[in-house]
Amino acid sequence: MDGKIKRIGVLTSGGDAPGMNAAVRAVVRTAISFGLECIGIRRGWQGLINSDFVQLDGAAVGHILDRGGTMLYTARSDEFREEKGRLKAVATCKMLGIDAVVAIGGDGTFRGALDFSRMGIPVVGVPATIDNDIGCTNYTIGFDTACNTAIECIDKLRDTMQSHERCSVVEVMGRNAGFLALYVGISVGATAVLVPERELNFERDVVERIRSARLAGVTHFMVVVAEGAGSAVEIAKQIHEAIGIEPRVTVLGHIQRGGSPNARDRETATRMGYFAVKALAEGRTNLVISTRDGAIVETPIEEALQMKKHLQMDRYEVLEAVGVSKPHV
Ligand code: F6P
Repeated sequence: MDGKIKRIGVLTSGGDAPGMNAAVRAVVRTAISFGLECIGIRRGWQGLINSDFVQLDGAAVGHILDRGGTMLYTARSDEFREEKGRLKAVATCKMLGIDAVVAIGGDGTFRGALDFSRMGIPVVGVPATIDNDIGCTNYTIGFDTACNTAIECIDKLRDTMQSHERCSVVEVMGRNAGFLALYVGISVGATAVLVPERELNFERDVVERIRSARLAGVTHFMVVVAEGAGSAVEIAKQIHEAIGIEPRVTVLGHIQRGGSPNARDRETATRMGYFAVKALAEGRTNLVISTRDGAIVETPIEEALQMKKHLQMDRYEVLEAVGVSKPHV
């Protein structure tokens, strides 16, 4: 390689997120507009090890902007964590003439990206995960659509909980972070939201909140639990033991990862994909494309991996103030 990037590989890795396809499309179309070639690597970093690729032109990424999932498939690769695996991936890049890689995914994807960049292949990361737990960026592709999916499901649950005057305990994803749970909890007017970032005081955070709602005349209750804060089944058992009601449990699970990306995810993914290729074309590499206060910024991968994002606890205050004490309707 003479230092100038001519051919880019693009991959999606880790848990899929709505908007990944929009990001792939933006990478490919931007590359073409800059006179670069693009190769799709299938099944994440593992695809680079296995030389699992597909040639991508502008038409190949037509009609995917609105589709959930990822046309490139995704995977989590144990082999890529080992140097031996990464050496095979470097060999694939040399064979195919891939000068740089755009890696679309979350934390694990970027850890792989950092290790890979140290082996001489430039990488740019694009953050996509429904967890929104990447420190360097305010927003990760897929979060908003996942919130909306969860909200739609919980609104439906509320109908039946209201009719039967029941308590619902709903577990949402988010891995070790409570962003999804808190945003969703506020949006559905949950009675209580449990997040890993806040130490649980069961009496204060669950029992008292259900009790105050009941005293205010409410006869159905919605408790949202982030998967990182505990199991909905366990929380439901504890509620039963504490106050005698028998909550119904729903684990939303992978449904939150599917579906057509909404406006925010399509727009963010398209902008991030564009800026990822622009950075490479202008010679800036080994960074993560991020959003800060609405603008696109670049963060060196190493720094990005060390940055922590904190759940804004003022949102919890909002929830506590408006989530309970509503008169029964
Ligand atoms: O990181 C995205 C995510 O959906 C998390 O919210 C969840 O903990 C995890 O992936 C589930 O992973 P898998 O698809 O391997 O079950």
